[in-house]
Amino acid sequence: MSDERQQRLRQRLENLEEMPTIPVVLAPLLRYLEQPLDTLDLEQVVELISQDKSLAAQCLQMANSPLYGRWTAVDNLRTAVIGLGMQRMRDVALSCTLLTLVPKGRTSVDPVVFWEHSLGCALVCRQFAQKIGFPDPAKAYLGGLLHDIGVVAELCVVPEEFQVALELARSQGIPLHEAEAITLGLTHCDSGKIVAEKWHLTEDLVAVAGCHHDPQTARTHRDLVALVSLSDLLCRMSGLGYGYPEARQVTFTEEPGFALLLEECPALRTFDWARFTFELEAYMEEVYRLVELLYRVPQ
Ligand SMILES: [Fe+2]
Ligand SMILES: [Fe+2]
Repeated sequence: MSDERQQRLRQRLENLEEMPTIPVVLAPLLRYLEQPLDTLDLEQVVELISQDKSLAAQCLQMANSPLYGRWTAVDNLRTAVIGLGMQRMRDVALSCTLLTLVPKGRTSVDPVVFWEHSLGCALVCRQFAQKIGFPDPAKAYLGGLLHDIGVVAELCVVPEEFQVALELARSQGIPLHEAEAITLGLTHCDSGKIVAEKWHLTEDLVAVAGCHHDPQTARTHRDLVALVSLSDLLCRMSGLGYGYPEARQVTFTEEPGFALLLEECPALRTFDWARFTFELEAYMEEVYRLVELLYRVPQ
């Protein structure tokens, strides 16, 4: 690809002209939910979510999933927030908010596959974080959810070019970012960093979006980036990638993210990968079911 074309692509991503705007109600909600958990007010959260009908419906659907620790069927938001607790409700609300960004049918690539991967990765990150004593499992969840935000940008801004990259990845069984580098001259880490900065996401999430395929290049928050990087790989190796199998063998302990994460979480040394992979399979089905369900809620 010529430098000039690559520059043009980058420019389009930076302008984000074709990027869907976040519905008005979601900006204050996101800002509110970013505050420390113990300062959040239940009524305020319910009020903010209720302002967007489809978001409220999606939150309820998710709140009723066993993945979020369903305790009993809930049919109203207030009960959902009480039942799930503020932390889980925040996970649910943030996930639903992001899901509204790429409506189905907007591009030739089915975004369901993308959300299955992102949501699956978020859940894997949280579970993994808890198992190895990572200090902030909620942040890990958010990192997993947002790590491929650069793909959303490409889906919206350069959909045809993105499809070419995805087709190459699929036909050769190579990782998506390698195919993007070949066909686009940049990867969803490059576009992810642009979007994350544009949206004023926190520094750690910018690092995740920009460096999760190369955690050693992160200048800050390397432990979080490494955790997301390994979780992403786990998902892809467990069939929760981008809808095609990658033709390679992975040894997790030899991945660059492993050594980085080990510095922060010594429990990783004795971590049982085989068992964790086995446990994950049990709830992958639920991830598929949930994303399918969420997309059936009228937007
Ligand atoms: Fe990625
Ligand atoms: Fe990913």
